[in-house]
Amino acid sequence: MSDSSLLTLHHELSAERAQTHHVALLSPAARALAIERGILALYRWYTTHSQQARNWHPDTCVDWRTLRRDHADEVHTIVEGFFAVEQYTPDYVLPLLRLIRRAYGRAQWHMRWGAEEEKHADLWRNTVLCLGRRSEAWMEAHVATLRGREWQLPWDSPLHMVFYQVIQERATQVSYLNLGLAASGRLSRLEGGQDSTLARVCQLITTDEAAHYYFFTEVARLLLYYDPDAAVTAFADVLRHFSMPARDLVPDYETFGRVLHATGVFGRAVHYRDVVQPVLSQLSLPAVRALEEGVRRAREIPGDDGVIRTSAFLDVLDLDAVESKVRTLFARTATHLNAAGLAETSDTSWEPAWSRRVDTPRA
Ligand SMILES: [Fe+2]
Ligand SMILES: [Fe+2]
Repeated sequence: MSDSSLLTLHHELSAERAQTHHVALLSPAARALAIERGILALYRWYTTHSQQARNWHPDTCVDWRTLRRDHADEVHTIVEGFFAVEQYTPDYVLPLLRLIRRAYGRAQWHMRWGAEEEKHADLWRNTVLCLGRRSEAWMEAHVATLRGREWQLPWDSPLHMVFYQVIQERATQVSYLNLGLAASGRLSRLEGGQDSTLARVCQLITTDEAAHYYFFTEVARLLLYYDPDAAVTAFADVLRHFSMPARDLVPDYETFGRVLHATGVFGRAVHYRDVVQPVLSQLSLPAVRALEEGVRRAREIPGDDGVIRTSAFLDVLDLDAVESKVRTLFARTATHLNAAGLAETSDTSWEPAWSRRVDTPRA
């Protein structure tokens, strides 16, 4: 296609896209405040409702004497790998906490989340030891080796880290769910490992990861709604470069990854089918290719002042769906604060951030 035809096509497409504009109803400062208040209110709701329903202790949640001690090698490899990844909790908490400490709600949530994650390390530690192949002395030496290295933040942008955590929480949820299926005799590539105690362990931790995934998804939706250009771009970046935490830190991660893949507990196909696709759908975003294309297109739409219009990124989202869910979030947290008698001291009112304006197409 010649340059002039390309230019004509570009103008035609631009004219077509210009038919609908989203007009900002709130200033950037008001949108930033809405994000802060939304996260704080969500954290208050979460710690009252969700967390109380999952108040288990890693020592007493099961009778550890009933865990089978004759599992296949694959089960040992997987559980030891899960422990190694979860035991980096100090690194998952500390560097990000430094970055977000000024954001009250997010920092409060992050510490509470870290307190739930450290239980996961204890739960897998108990499992590794009670499976019967490793001694406490081995465990101590192993942890010393693991802690000799330090997990680094994959992004030093708090915004990127929300999307990273959405993906990572969903990925851990799926991995633990699949080991639980194996322990219940329902994973065809890892048969013979039926163990109701291991199944219970997996169920407890899967429910935690599902709750974390839920929380980060709500935060991601707030960001997509109130700060669409930065959020959509960050999410596209994270999808493009995501890799699971501790991949480079855990000794013999290759074997761990190979066993996860061979047994169907986790792998590239599972990641795309059970992690990326559900996350995109949950956030009312299109499939990866369309998302990338939307980001590229939005970058090409400058406003009259030459600056890229924020609203261009809203074209990538199913805005009605996102808005409806953000509104529901505010309504639910308002109900919680109302019931607690805190409504007068916490403003949880929701205001729309965007309106749609339809222009007549240019002739
Ligand atoms: Fe975890
Ligand atoms: Fe988690």
